[in-house]
Amino acid sequence: MTDRLTIRRPDDLHVHLRDGAMLAAVTPYTARIFGRAVVMPNLSPPVTSVDAATAYRARIMAALPAGSDFTPLMTCYLTDDADRHEIVRGHAEGVFTACKLYPAGATTNSAHGVTDLRNVRGVLEAMQRAGMPLLVHGEVTDPAVDIFDREAVFIERVLQPLLRDFPALRVVMEHITTAEAAAFVEAGGDRLAATITPQHLHLSRNALFEGGLRPHAYCLPVLKRERHRLAVRRAATGGCARFFLGTDSAPHEVRAKESGCGCAGVFNAPYAIESYAAVFDEEDALGRLEAFASENGARWYGLPLNEGSVTLARGGELVPERVGDVVPFHAGERLGWRLEA
Ligand code: NCD
Ligand code: ZN
Repeated sequence: MTDRLTIRRPDDLHVHLRDGAMLAAVTPYTARIFGRAVVMPNLSPPVTSVDAATAYRARIMAALPAGSDFTPLMTCYLTDDADRHEIVRGHAEGVFTACKLYPAGATTNSAHGVTDLRNVRGVLEAMQRAGMPLLVHGEVTDPAVDIFDREAVFIERVLQPLLRDFPALRVVMEHITTAEAAAFVEAGGDRLAATITPQHLHLSRNALFEGGLRPHAYCLPVLKRERHRLAVRRAATGGCARFFLGTDSAPHEVRAKESGCGCAGVFNAPYAIESYAAVFDEEDALGRLEAFASENGARWYGLPLNEGSVTLARGGELVPERVGDVVPFHAGERLGWRLEA
């Protein structure tokens, strides 16, 4: 039995660092362990210009503890009137790593998202030409579609036509939650990849109702049936290099979660790598954690692998009930792994 595991320093290919006081509170947890993170642009207002992304990146850097070695990779929020020249310029200048597609109304701060992909065809063509990745929140917003089916329906209605119409566009299906998504991405070519969160590996939708309503397990895409959780686990731990770590850490203050209309999002940054390690251990796949966490994402994005390493040891800490004003993922649990200094 492995009791210590040293892996190359990982990257988080999908995170919400927020802004203002929340940015200051949460960013150190991500920067402590991850060398880089793909930072989501769903601020209010959203990050839609090169100037806004540059300014946001500076605020992130200002929130880092002294001595941090962390690089935020910025993204551009696509809107119906997105400007392809601005986007391609931002990519060429090294400001925008990718664009994020939020179907309007799909999730937190997605009101400015794209209402119809036809509105951004010119942008997608330009991104395809520039080799700039499109990151998709893969859920339809049609209220007639059951919330548990929105990801699978997105693949049929939106993603398949998109990949057909833009045969060279590089796409990451973010935070996949279903057997359908796992199979679709695995069967896709090199230009299609997916991120996987710790909560979708640990929890099925039962966790939302365990003994009562559990707002801190609520995120989007919503947790699914057990068979989907198992399929997503197989994808993460199965060795396909197009699945990689993206925590989707999405902090909301306790009062915004514990509410008559609570926000979606799980704050998993403080114990993210320990949480993934527990899953890989349970799946007898600890030897594949490094590829998933530290290599696959970097390679897909064409980034050099991080220097440095982190060491995990068996025997975890008790996860606190609160981290500032936020309830972290695994609050009150003891994880099987801890990070060594
Ligand atoms: C995210 C957030 O709060 O910004 N919430 C979530 O449940 N994942 C948005 C998102 O990634 O969908
Ligand atoms: Zn997200």
